[in-house]
Amino acid sequence: MKKIGFLTSGGDCQSLNATMRGVAKTLYQAYSKDVEIYGILEGYKGLIYGNYRKMKPEDFSGILTEGGTIIGTSRQPFKKMREPDENGLDKVKAMKDNYKKWGLDCLVILGGNGTHKTANLLSEEGCNVVTLPKTIDNDIWGTDITFGFQSAVNIATNAIDCIHTTAASHGRVFIVEVMGHKVGWLTLHAGIAGGADIILIPEIPYDIDSVVKALDKRAKQGKRFSILAVAEGAISKEDAALSKKELKAKRKANIYPSISYQIGEEINKKTGQEVRITVPGHTQRGGEPCPYDRVISSRLGAAAARLIIDEKYGYMVGLKNGETIPVPLSEVAGKLKMVEPDSSIIKEAKGLGICFGD
Ligand code: F6P
Repeated sequence: MKKIGFLTSGGDCQSLNATMRGVAKTLYQAYSKDVEIYGILEGYKGLIYGNYRKMKPEDFSGILTEGGTIIGTSRQPFKKMREPDENGLDKVKAMKDNYKKWGLDCLVILGGNGTHKTANLLSEEGCNVVTLPKTIDNDIWGTDITFGFQSAVNIATNAIDCIHTTAASHGRVFIVEVMGHKVGWLTLHAGIAGGADIILIPEIPYDIDSVVKALDKRAKQGKRFSILAVAEGAISKEDAALSKKELKAKRKANIYPSISYQIGEEINKKTGQEVRITVPGHTQRGGEPCPYDRVISSRLGAAAARLIIDEKYGYMVGLKNGETIPVPLSEVAGKLKMVEPDSSIIKEAKGLGICFGD
């Protein structure tokens, strides 16, 4: 009997269930009744404190289109994994002990960057681990795309689309703030897809005067409105030049709820134009996965099951040039996949007239 533990960790996304279904269906096909799946509840928390439920094949039916995660998730920061909990419990030891106690052959871990660091740690500590790249941010190293990203692009694009008509009616400047943590993939894609005039991403620090210049140019061309897609992690040139410590202190004294409000106020002061801000927030992680995500989730899940069947552990399944590939966990952990300011997508967007504030 093969015993496989499933665990979803970190922020959720639309295609977690579709991915688990892909792994489960392939395992059930291969082993029939000779496989038992343990649904470890609420991410690493369940592995630390011994909370799980035994899954049945029926649990994986009807979930292809269901957002969220049927086994729950939580954020357990990697940097705190080596610290004992409030009762002095050694978390890493507890995870290893439960892995052994339950007699697991492998852990299937679905998560983003932080999750991958802990997955690598567990692998180094002797657990068999296979991981899958989950995040709307698309910032996991070793894969061209993460599942959840495209669904979030659709939602963020829809937000920009909806803003377009009202922006045109009122002749205002609108800012749509897009998630993405420290990277600009989501903002870049939604910005291009939604026809944003200005796109600000963390990888290209902006100069507010360049933004104002682009707005003035549009006004002179007779355009009544402008739309900015601003990444939640967007940063000014001035702030990007600060040391980590200086930036932290500056942010602590910051009065704005998020970067868009600061940019909005600066635009209003410098141009006199009326500015409105929209923050779609967690709606970007909600709802059902788009068909593209359902396809890659099913494929990545099936490929992860294949690794388990072949007893090939210590890998994340990624997608490169349309093919699923195993990527060593040690290579994935601790790296971030960022937008390259010199990449063709940026050059093409600039060619279209989109301003990046640089
Ligand atoms: O990593 C996914 C993500 O949605 C980021 O884009 C965002 O910065 C963060 O999670 C929000 O986290 P939380 O759900 O914990 O507020």
